[in-house]
Amino acid sequence: MLGAMNHTEPTMAAALDVNLLAKFVDPLPYPAVARPQGRKPSPADPKTSVSFYRIQAQATESKVHRDLAATRFWSFGPTVPGPTFETRAGEPLLIEWVNTLPGAHFLPIDRTIHGAESDKPEVRTVVHLHGAKTGPASDGYPEDWIVPGKSSLYFYPNQQDAAMLWYHDHALGINRLNVYAGLLGTFFIRDSVEDALNLPRGKYELPLILYDRLLTREGQLLYPVSPDPQSPWVPEVFGNAILVNGKLFPYLEVEPRKYRFRVLNGSNARIYHLSLTRENSAEELPFHQIGTDQGLLPAPVPLTRLDIAPGERADLVMDFREFGGAQLILKSDAYVVMQFRVASGKVNDASSLPSALRSVPKITESQVVQTRLLTLDEYVNKAGNSAMLLLNATHWKAPVTERPMLGSTEVWTLINPTNDTHPIHLHLVRFQILDRQTYEPWLFQTKRQLHFLGSAELPEPNEAGWKDTVQAHSRMVTRIIVPFEGFTGRYVWHCHILEHEDNEMMRPYEVIPAA
Ligand code: C2O
Ligand code: CU
Ligand code: CU
Repeated sequence: MLGAMNHTEPTMAAALDVNLLAKFVDPLPYPAVARPQGRKPSPADPKTSVSFYRIQAQATESKVHRDLAATRFWSFGPTVPGPTFETRAGEPLLIEWVNTLPGAHFLPIDRTIHGAESDKPEVRTVVHLHGAKTGPASDGYPEDWIVPGKSSLYFYPNQQDAAMLWYHDHALGINRLNVYAGLLGTFFIRDSVEDALNLPRGKYELPLILYDRLLTREGQLLYPVSPDPQSPWVPEVFGNAILVNGKLFPYLEVEPRKYRFRVLNGSNARIYHLSLTRENSAEELPFHQIGTDQGLLPAPVPLTRLDIAPGERADLVMDFREFGGAQLILKSDAYVVMQFRVASGKVNDASSLPSALRSVPKITESQVVQTRLLTLDEYVNKAGNSAMLLLNATHWKAPVTERPMLGSTEVWTLINPTNDTHPIHLHLVRFQILDRQTYEPWLFQTKRQLHFLGSAELPEPNEAGWKDTVQAHSRMVTRIIVPFEGFTGRYVWHCHILEHEDNEMMRPYEVIPAA
């Protein structure tokens, strides 16, 4: 985040100080559940039919806080976030994503960013279902955007384990603005393995969709721009208003029992460090993480703090049994996120937190056919401010360089000489983290020699499952092991800090047929 402060300070002065607002006056909403419009023949097998949904990207208004005027958003359907999909593994579905957005954008487009040049329409959208094993034509390739009045019919086979996926805009060069505007929602896949665990469900299970925003004093979205008129892009946007399911400082009334919270970091750039405390106490209370981006962990992991980067998901179980009558606060660093109001007394909690969840077979390096060294690069301008980021020093438009073979397993070695953690996401696949290790950046940059400084660190216990987004930490080498399964064709991999992604920290990759 070189120079980030210089860039955002002038606009920060115009932003609303959210700490002037009353806290915990709005109940936490449960997102609406998407309803199918009916059934249509399956593109995979026209003799069978699949559920069909029609979802409109549209302009809408939503009150983020009792004491603020309604905020203008763009969303999938009338609510922000969009509706939650409740689906089952093995049951494919069709979604027609319709662009009914207005003709002009309400956030500042930077025409110097690739894919957003002045010959490109101002309003474009394309939807990606993050974490889905989907054919390339339905994956939401960043150049497959459509303009208002058009729609795309996407097919989701749902041949994958139970997990919380999420859908969001992915339009090249304006993705950071479209997601900031509100174009996101969650998508659950359920399966029988998960059903058999007797985890909290129904009203005891809900998504916590986190994203931070800057608001004007009138309560409208504020997307900061750099004072440099040549290039309005800013390297990261951090808001002081942390919204949960679309509300600022919400509260949730809970019973003294177990709840399952499906946490999504849908922020542009903020990494959350979540902890749970009593009101007026700093003691971090224990909870469990039971799943990660791509589904259940082998066993629950006890935590007092969760670090979650943009794009990542965490499946949590919090037990309020001991806290009857108390008010608990979910915090991230110095920020208050939300409040839990625990009812007093005792209830009969029939749900379980099993000690074994799902087997996650370790992928071994003996299966690896290809290892790729890939750098995460940041470039600064004359003023020393971040000007662009690339993957492996390569622009988006350059020919495809990563061409894994269908059915093969590769190690991607992510080399991060920058001062930031970059959450790196690969479309189509799920992977496991092998290890992280500090290294000497200068030797690598000048001689391409990997000289390790510390010993290799295994992933944290709450990362030791199936992932689709990995935190590649500053000045470390992060290795992931990736089986390329499902489909051949063109996909992308990128940093999930959306300002980075838009300013070229994204590359195509192509799964090629097995020889
Ligand atoms: Cu969350 Cu390329 O996506
Ligand atoms: Cu994705
Ligand atoms: Cu990044």
